[in-house]
Amino acid sequence: MEPKRVYLVTMGCQMNVYDSEQMERILESVNYRPTSHMDKADLIILNTCSIREKAEHKVYSYLGRLARMKRRRPDLMIGVGGCVAQQEGCRLIERAPHVDMVFGPFAVKRLAGLIGQVREQKRPVVDVDQTGTVEPSHIGPSASQAGRATAFVTIMSGCDNFCTYCVVPYVRGREVSRTPRGILEEIEQLVAKGVQEVTLLGQNVNAYGLKNGHGCDFPTLLEKVNRINGLKRLRFTTSHPKDLSDELVGAFARLETLAPHIHLPVQCGADRILRRMNRGYTRDDYLAGIEKLRKARPDIALTSDIIVGFPGEEERDFEETLSLVESVGFDNLYTFKYSDRPKTPASRFSHKVAEAVKSERFSRLLELQTRMTLDKHRSLVGSIQEVLVEGLSKKMDHQMRGHTACNKVVNFSDGAACVGQLVPVKIVEAFSHSLLGSPVKHSRPYSGDKGGILHAA
Ligand code: SAH
Ligand code: SF4
Ligand code: F3S
Repeated sequence: MEPKRVYLVTMGCQMNVYDSEQMERILESVNYRPTSHMDKADLIILNTCSIREKAEHKVYSYLGRLARMKRRRPDLMIGVGGCVAQQEGCRLIERAPHVDMVFGPFAVKRLAGLIGQVREQKRPVVDVDQTGTVEPSHIGPSASQAGRATAFVTIMSGCDNFCTYCVVPYVRGREVSRTPRGILEEIEQLVAKGVQEVTLLGQNVNAYGLKNGHGCDFPTLLEKVNRINGLKRLRFTTSHPKDLSDELVGAFARLETLAPHIHLPVQCGADRILRRMNRGYTRDDYLAGIEKLRKARPDIALTSDIIVGFPGEEERDFEETLSLVESVGFDNLYTFKYSDRPKTPASRFSHKVAEAVKSERFSRLLELQTRMTLDKHRSLVGSIQEVLVEGLSKKMDHQMRGHTACNKVVNFSDGAACVGQLVPVKIVEAFSHSLLGSPVKHSRPYSGDKGGILHAA
């Protein structure tokens, strides 16, 4: 039977990317193939994010466009998955009656059944039930993942931290860890298909295994993954500063595949605000953690998340954030303006910061970090970096693109480089978001060459 076409839109974090890949595999099993043309799709799925108000708005404006499309093509099936689906449930159908299917992250595994239900019952279905196993039902690369050098693997779902600003615990539920066995099997399959780099995902990976009693904590899991034959690079995200153990810090010194980069969101530099955020650490605790990491792995790259304009944040609190950023010297920062989210304690806090003040603080922080990132990048000019080739450059057709071990984007021209190879590249120019490299003569295979599929022009 001629396959049906699905157009999948993924918003939000890497966990949604992983879930979308899972959806793709489930849909393959019921004869749907991905398309990059929305007009040709029989099914359109939005995998949504609710982390800030703006992300949620984006979903409704997308749905507005889809309403016009559905009027022209009533057979088109529209599904909304992810965190906005979980948060809104039936309300989403009331607001957007052209939606056929609303399903939260827990219902991804039930997707094939939900599609069947929509077809049979000819009315919208909603599945925001938070039950079911966290093990994915299908593992291994999907059709559109074939030939990729990197992959995400979710190792746990949910979050129990309840930072006062954050919607995640409400939409992703309680923290549950997958079994080490399921994770290792999944990575082994990916590596067998040519994946060279794996990023382990969770909202707080440091807490992996602590509640399920699988007898394997996060540093132990890293050791096991590190031993998988053929895996070249290992990364993880996100790590919570309050749970940064000495064992985890030590893993950076010990494990040869563990890339020298950690994303360690600090959120704010002022203790008063960190307390109100319920983060569970102080500025000094955070700085002590950074010192330990740098001692264990002097070349470690550090990135972080910061929220500006949290309720009650005053100029002096913000200045403490600026001074923390200066003193740590992050490689990069993801900066967000505080946004009220449903059900969160902070949405009920008084002393909200005016939008104009948030914007002004946001710009000051961005300016500081852009300068610091550029300085870091400039210091790499002239050095030789090992780059994992991931595909063609996003901007220049004739260039290849990849990441250094420290997770910096490098674009470079190399007629001999293939996807999946680790190649030495000399850095020749620095920009604020990427580096430009030129190939260093290497006789293929340089290392880890499993024969890529894509050659540079
Ligand atoms: N689990 C991760 C982060 C998940 S969300 C952690 O604990 O670090 C990614 C980032 O979005 C957060 O680190 C935070 O900086 C930002 N964020 C979360 N809720 C927010 C809100 N209500 N307003 C603005 N930014 C928010
Ligand atoms: Fe949200 Fe905090 Fe959990 Fe991260 S640790 S997902 S910020 S509640
Ligand atoms: Fe967004 Fe949900 Fe991830 S709210 S950041 S997609 S866990």
